[in-house]
Amino acid sequence: MEEQLESLKKAALQELKEADTLGVLNELRVKYLGKKGSLTGVLKGLGNLQPEERPRIGQIVNAIRTQLEMEIANKSDELKQAELDKRLASERIDVTLPGRTSNIGSRHPLTLTLDRIKDTFMRMGFDIADGPEVETDYYSFEALNLPKDHPARDMQDSFYITSDILLRPHTSPVQVRTMQAADPGQPIRIIAPGKVYRRDYDATHSPMFHQVEGLVVDRGIRFSDLKGTLELFIYEIFGNDVRVRFRPSFFPFTEPSAEVDVSCVMCGGKGCRVCSGTGWLEILGSGMVHPRVLEMSRFDSDKVSGFAFGMGVERIAMLVYGIDDLRLFYDNDLRFLRQF
Ligand code: DAH
Repeated sequence: MEEQLESLKKAALQELKEADTLGVLNELRVKYLGKKGSLTGVLKGLGNLQPEERPRIGQIVNAIRTQLEMEIANKSDELKQAELDKRLASERIDVTLPGRTSNIGSRHPLTLTLDRIKDTFMRMGFDIADGPEVETDYYSFEALNLPKDHPARDMQDSFYITSDILLRPHTSPVQVRTMQAADPGQPIRIIAPGKVYRRDYDATHSPMFHQVEGLVVDRGIRFSDLKGTLELFIYEIFGNDVRVRFRPSFFPFTEPSAEVDVSCVMCGGKGCRVCSGTGWLEILGSGMVHPRVLEMSRFDSDKVSGFAFGMGVERIAMLVYGIDDLRLFYDNDLRFLRQF
């Protein structure tokens, strides 16, 4: 009996040693320790033994059982670990692959320019005003003292929706809207950035472009206020090295009027292709608000005066960044946009 148990144990240990999968291991567990297993069989046969032999044989059987259970548990751990190692090896992630870069956008050069313009005037105490892009003849022309035969009123030059409603051809209507919404006793100091529309299309004109309008109305506003304000603005945008020139001009809504030039930012004033050899670049229109414009919007031109100005944002951006074709702003070509 003892010999039989000894060889059973030997055989079991040998088989356990050779088990190479968890499945095989489980079969061995059933084979030796299961309800119908060999070791269980021996235990069941204890009844046939002499009563004095039973405890000793029982003890041996239990010792073998404990040893086998332990061996099976160890082997099971070993096989599980091996299987895990195998899976880890086959499912390994290659962390050396470069990550996917996300494209971070950048601000459009027109936005950058507009932000600088707004920032400069806001630091001088200006508020930002806004107005509709679809305007009436009254705000676009009439209240600005633009005569009926003015070219901007021509169907050929502006986008009309009806004979009385059009896409605004300049931001100047915001001057009128601001004055009419204001208390005539209160000073006004605003800029009005926004889109404007004209029937033009070439390297320096687009049917939609951006302007910034400016309006200051108060007691005792003089031409020197206009000059000082615009000079400071120009130095902020183009740097302190440029020269500024005020040249007499005409606008129906200002009197006197002046066009403002800066010394050419490309050649420094010597004369080149960009400034057509003149050494100067025209960058904005301005003037003292025409008394008739003040009166039409309920301001007493004997008591208050004002100045106004208007500039094209595209033109300023082209000069600041050295861009020679305005259409580049609207092509959305990443090779262009990534440069800002
Ligand atoms: N509205 C003019 C234009 O579109 C620009 C302008 C000139 C605006 C003189 C003004 C001004 O306010 O005083 O060409």
